[in-house]
Amino acid sequence: MKIGVFDSGIGGKSVASAIEKAMPEHQVVFRDDSKNLPYGTKSIEAIYEGCLPVLQLLVSDGCEVIVVACNTVSTNLIERLRQEISVPLIAVEPMVKPASKQTKSKVIAVCATPRTLSSKRYETLKEQYAVGIKVIEPDCSDWTSMIENDEVDKVKLARIIDDVCNQGADVIVLGCTHYHWIEDLINDMANNRAVVLQPEQAVIKQLNKVINA
Ligand code: DGL
Repeated sequence: MKIGVFDSGIGGKSVASAIEKAMPEHQVVFRDDSKNLPYGTKSIEAIYEGCLPVLQLLVSDGCEVIVVACNTVSTNLIERLRQEISVPLIAVEPMVKPASKQTKSKVIAVCATPRTLSSKRYETLKEQYAVGIKVIEPDCSDWTSMIENDEVDKVKLARIIDDVCNQGADVIVLGCTHYHWIEDLINDMANNRAVVLQPEQAVIKQLNKVINA
């Protein structure tokens, strides 16, 4: 089967290669919308106009299921896109639920784009799962560009990770697929003070469910 993977940019590539590795019997087709990135600081309407034609292309490529490997799109637009796109869409969202279950300190940090953090869906995830838990949302507004341009400012990043750990966070959620590329770096900077969560294995599990349904 052809599995489509979509993101604004290279974040989705990390998800696509995790899927390829776990499901070699399927063909993964990755498409991005790099001319319009970053999505995370754009209006919902601009993101919709950017991503819809690319998702339609994946359908014309013959993809029978598409992973929307972009938290920004999933949290703001998944319901609307499901009405437009004829194949199942798998959403990638910040892992607030597993983080809330895992935290012992009752403090978690969610690293995500401004547009994800301002979405209704993210608000709902916090209301449902982060009851009694402090959620720190550091400013990651320039992380996508930093990662796309391979210009990670390690000093600035370390300061942010130190700050969330010093505030007591023992779980750090990577709520933007671009950040998967700096997962190891963040892990090193957290230095056993916090675990880092990202959704690739959960996506693969969900994909298997949809494919075998
Ligand atoms: N990788 C995307 C996400 O998961 C969006 C990054 C961006 O374009 O700002 O949110």
